[in-house]
Amino acid sequence: LKWLGLAAGVFCSTAFAADSEALRERALNNFGVIPTEAPEIKGNKLTEEKVELGKMLFFEPRLSSSHIISCNTCHNVGMGGHDYLPVSIGHGWQKGPRNSPTVLNAVFNAAQFWDGRAADLAEQAKGPVQAGVEMSSTPARVEATLKSMPDYVRRFEASFPSEENPVSFDNMAAAIEAFEATLITPDAPFDQFLRGQDDALNQQEKEGLALFMDKGCAGCHGGVNFGGQNYFPFGLVSRPGADVLPPGDKGRFAVTDTVSDEYVFRAAPLRNIELTAPYFHSGAVWSLEEAVSLMGTAQLGTELNEKEVADISAFLRTLTGKTPEVVYPQLPPSTDETPRPVD
Ligand code: HEM
Ligand code: HEM
Repeated sequence: LKWLGLAAGVFCSTAFAADSEALRERALNNFGVIPTEAPEIKGNKLTEEKVELGKMLFFEPRLSSSHIISCNTCHNVGMGGHDYLPVSIGHGWQKGPRNSPTVLNAVFNAAQFWDGRAADLAEQAKGPVQAGVEMSSTPARVEATLKSMPDYVRRFEASFPSEENPVSFDNMAAAIEAFEATLITPDAPFDQFLRGQDDALNQQEKEGLALFMDKGCAGCHGGVNFGGQNYFPFGLVSRPGADVLPPGDKGRFAVTDTVSDEYVFRAAPLRNIELTAPYFHSGAVWSLEEAVSLMGTAQLGTELNEKEVADISAFLRTLTGKTPEVVYPQLPPSTDETPRPVD
């Protein structure tokens, strides 16, 4: 009997191993392997100097007219790359219209913002600096600010060698993009599973992964960032209430001016989703389980049962990777030429 038990045990564990192998194969097809190094960016070579300058600029509150708001205010890299608020608070304590998405792994998104209106991170970075509800500055003021500090001038020259006018608004954006490309989070338990470590996911998490693919979530949230690639109507099958989907924000319609794009949004990337509550562009949903359940009804027309919601949520929590260590930069002192803060 003892031997029988042992044989059954061996059989079971081989059966599980075979299951894991099949699951891994499917996951590899749906998502692929996240790079462990910052990806190359077309037209913006990543150099050590440029990445360091970009980091300084990311933490630089003097890019805002008030001198108190930096990119890191709303995309806190010590806090999952966002602000844990339903919608961000910017210049003059104004509330913006949308939830702040994480900057972690944003480099893998096909386009930036909930509606994909910026093609890449460099184009994106020029937006918040000028937005009245975010940093409320101007390209001219930013250039004057950066030119007023010799340390920045030196760093721009080193980062953009042989350029006639290295300290420019465009180069500010390029340097920030270079830094953001380094904000990737490989080595989540899910990635360890993909690399062949069967026990990196427990049974519930594996079932959640299988459900995520079987139910159709992966159809929209595919690729290495589990989304960020394509656009879909939010409420494809049934439209969520006005609290989650405020009628005033028509998503991609504002970008394309096409009626079929009303309430169309980018399938949100789901890596590190455990760290980025509250959810959706409205930031109206605090619980991951609730967000998963809502996706079932809104996007798939499926009432997921309690176990399915728990399993999928458990799986999604295995997408929390290793955030790179970011050493807080020392920023150069203001000089007499530095534009003064304004309200
Ligand atoms: C979106 C970076 C400043 C709030 C984004 C995204 C990136 C980013 C990469 C798109 C992420 C994605 O689509 O997945 C930056 C940088 C900043 C900056 C580099 C500094 C230059 C700020 C500030 C605030 C803020 C100061 C808050 C006042 C938001 C919000 C969105 C967003 C609300 C979503 C907007 C929408 O979809 O319409 N940011 N950000 N950001 N950021 Fe920032
Ligand atoms: C957003 C999970 C199916 C399209 C989200 C979010 C989660 C999620 C957790 C919130 C992300 C965040 O706020 O950062 C799931 C799960 C699914 C599923 C578990 C399967 C049960 C789908 C499908 C589609 C889709 C099938 C496309 C038809 C979207 C879109 C958003 C989103 C467009 C952004 C909504 C917004 O503008 O706020 N998903 N999703 N999802 N998902 Fe899904």
